[in-house]
Amino acid sequence: MVEPVKLGIVGLGRGLMLTLPALVDNPWVTISGAYDLQVDVAKLFAFEHSARAFETYEDLLADPGIEAVYLATPHQLHAEQTIAAARAGKHVLVEKPMAISVEECVAMVEACAAANVTLVVGPSHGFDAPVQLAADIVASGRFGSVRMVTALNFTDFMYRPRRPEELDVSKGGGVVYSQAAHQIDVVRRIIGKPVVSVHGITGNWDASRRSDGAYTALLTFSDGVAASLTYSGYAHYDSDELVGWISELGHKKDPARYGDTRSKLAAQAQDEASAKQQRGYASRNHDIGEMPSHHEHFGFILVSCDKADLKVLPGGVHIYGDKANFFAPLIPPVRPRVEVIDEFVSAARGHRPPHHDGEWGLETLACCSAILLSNQRGAPVNPRTLIDQIKG
Ligand SMILES: NC(=O)c1ccc[n+]([C@@H]2O[C@H](COP(=O)([O-])OP(=O)(O)OC[C@H]3O[C@@H](n4cnc5c(N)ncnc54)[C@H](O)[C@@H]3O)[C@@H](O)[C@H]2O)c1
Repeated sequence: MVEPVKLGIVGLGRGLMLTLPALVDNPWVTISGAYDLQVDVAKLFAFEHSARAFETYEDLLADPGIEAVYLATPHQLHAEQTIAAARAGKHVLVEKPMAISVEECVAMVEACAAANVTLVVGPSHGFDAPVQLAADIVASGRFGSVRMVTALNFTDFMYRPRRPEELDVSKGGGVVYSQAAHQIDVVRRIIGKPVVSVHGITGNWDASRRSDGAYTALLTFSDGVAASLTYSGYAHYDSDELVGWISELGHKKDPARYGDTRSKLAAQAQDEASAKQQRGYASRNHDIGEMPSHHEHFGFILVSCDKADLKVLPGGVHIYGDKANFFAPLIPPVRPRVEVIDEFVSAARGHRPPHHDGEWGLETLACCSAILLSNQRGAPVNPRTLIDQIKG
């Protein structure tokens, strides 16, 4: 029997809302405390989850009743808050992207190692059950070696309500840190080899909403394996069409609602930062909602092996072999994102080392940085050199 981990939740916004279903009534976790700059929201959350609301982050860290923290705060706070938690002896689950520079990630890994606490980076879509199934099939060698992965995702990311820093590239805004962190996690998880070079090009195409809204990147891995990654958040084509009109969060989607996100943003009466707040716990709509019919996903993913192509879908993996093709289904999720909590608790309790540990998050973030740097230089970048420069 695993003793539940007593968790303090920091940052009660949109990210928390997506993870909350995996935390509520999870026998492996007790929600013990909450802290947010919006004190009233923290109080309400604490009341509704029989937890304690803290006035400051330092108070939460000082409480012996908190064993671990889930940091769902803006990216630019992840490093400082992780390091403080480690120094206080708390395990850390930190949202993606791990931080906004390789330097910060190295400091986070070192602080958690020095304090002997667990660091897991997530949720991200590399945890999704269909991705794990594809990774297991590749690792089994049943269809020969993996050679190439094609990943693309076309979304409306740029027109959802945003905090100003979410569009400020100098503060980790735009799609490269926020969204490439998912796509890189997915392809790394499936290929299972080190990335040796990244050639990226970013796109900043809407003068009324200046930010990196798109990228395309070629990642090469050891043994000559390659992955091409394309992402656009400009709300034109919707690649959910390619996965049976299932949304990123695993719900059925109505293609007739074309253009909704743009028009809602344009018609919004309140300022954008307030609209963003309304996507978090502050919305007063705390129903964790209808459970998704499918697993979460991050767009179209096709994995080419010697003897088969594997299409990763929200319901399982479709295998296109030499002579036949067939679908390997997965049982639908009971709740989204429970894989993340399983991995974190197993690691914190010393049962199983996490896949998405600090080193893993650091390497993914180094690939994100390499996309930006490669775009500036017009040449490929080895993400390992970015890490080695900091580690010395
Ligand atoms: N894994 C996912 O699918 C996913 C989805 C959404 C967001 N996220 C991640 O979650 C993180 C937060 O993004 P979001 O969209 O939830 O933002 P948000 O603005 O909705 O929520 C952030 C929350 O943090 C609070 N906050 C700000 N500064 C704070 C501080 N110093 N101490 C405590 N609380 C503070 C804010 O009041 C707010 O409630 C980001 O890193 C983002 O990438 C992940």
